[in-house]
Amino acid sequence: MSRRVIIDTDTAGDDTQAILMAVLADSLTVEALTVVAGNVEFDRQVENAKYTLDLAGVADEVPVHEGARSPLVKEFEHVPHVHGEGGLGGDLFPETGIDSARAYAPDAIVEAARDSPGEVSLLCIGPLTNVALALRREPALGDLLDSVYVMGGAVNTLGNDTPAAEFNFWVDPDAATVVVDDLDVTLVDWGLCVRQGTLDADDIAPFEAAETEYAEFFATIAEAPREFSRRQQGVDAVTQSDSIAAACLLEPDLIEGSGTYYVDVDEREGMTRGYSLVDELGVTDNEPGTRVVERIDGEQFYRTFSDMLLHGDPERSL
Ligand code: RIB
Ligand code: CA
Repeated sequence: MSRRVIIDTDTAGDDTQAILMAVLADSLTVEALTVVAGNVEFDRQVENAKYTLDLAGVADEVPVHEGARSPLVKEFEHVPHVHGEGGLGGDLFPETGIDSARAYAPDAIVEAARDSPGEVSLLCIGPLTNVALALRREPALGDLLDSVYVMGGAVNTLGNDTPAAEFNFWVDPDAATVVVDDLDVTLVDWGLCVRQGTLDADDIAPFEAAETEYAEFFATIAEAPREFSRRQQGVDAVTQSDSIAAACLLEPDLIEGSGTYYVDVDEREGMTRGYSLVDELGVTDNEPGTRVVERIDGEQFYRTFSDMLLHGDPERSL
């Protein structure tokens, strides 16, 4: 029986690949996409989400709910310099003309969880504002969800938005604090994604050579982050962080190593805003509560990602 999931997303290029992986997987039923402020201008993110669903032929099956257009408290900046203007590589894609679903995203999350207790999972691949707002509406949300996978944080390693913080946690640290505290989260952090989810030019070459619609879409959306990587680090590569989180939800056996630790997030403004404290040594007197993914089967992840792009079937080699 397929597992039901809601994907909370700040839809830019890397989010689109996680969304494709989930909607193309037979063992998952994507109940809805909920859009949250993050990567690029909000209405472009909404369009990017709809475009991705339309590309996979499921736009009439998967509703897109609009959510928080800004973090709970903080000011923030979009990152078009990473994902390209509009978030999908650089050129703006045509409007889909698809209507958004009626319900506000946090309400849609709560409604789905209450209607089917224990059956719906959350895949969170953007700032956690919508999820924190859902928790305000339903404090028992954690008891009503199946599992919660979050792409966010930098576990005792360099952040990508500041030296201290990964982007999703930096944008809305107030929300991240609440979510890691109140929900049983499986955390896929930026450090894991850099170690095991970074595709270099050789990894990408088969996708550029392929003529499938998904491979061509990937080549387009990867242009801007590859250029950003060349500029910032002198390396032609792109890190598929959201897809790693999606792959871990899709195939829990992908996870080869994890630890459960106390995790907190610094919500103070300043140079450690969004810093994810992960008590790996157990030196604080706090209860461990967050499952941190420390190692995945990187070769299997690449096969899963390749199968999605080349065959439209991320489960082909599972
Ligand atoms: O830090 C990477 C994360 O921030 C990804 O989810 C990316 O899409 C942005 O949301
Ligand atoms: Ca994202």
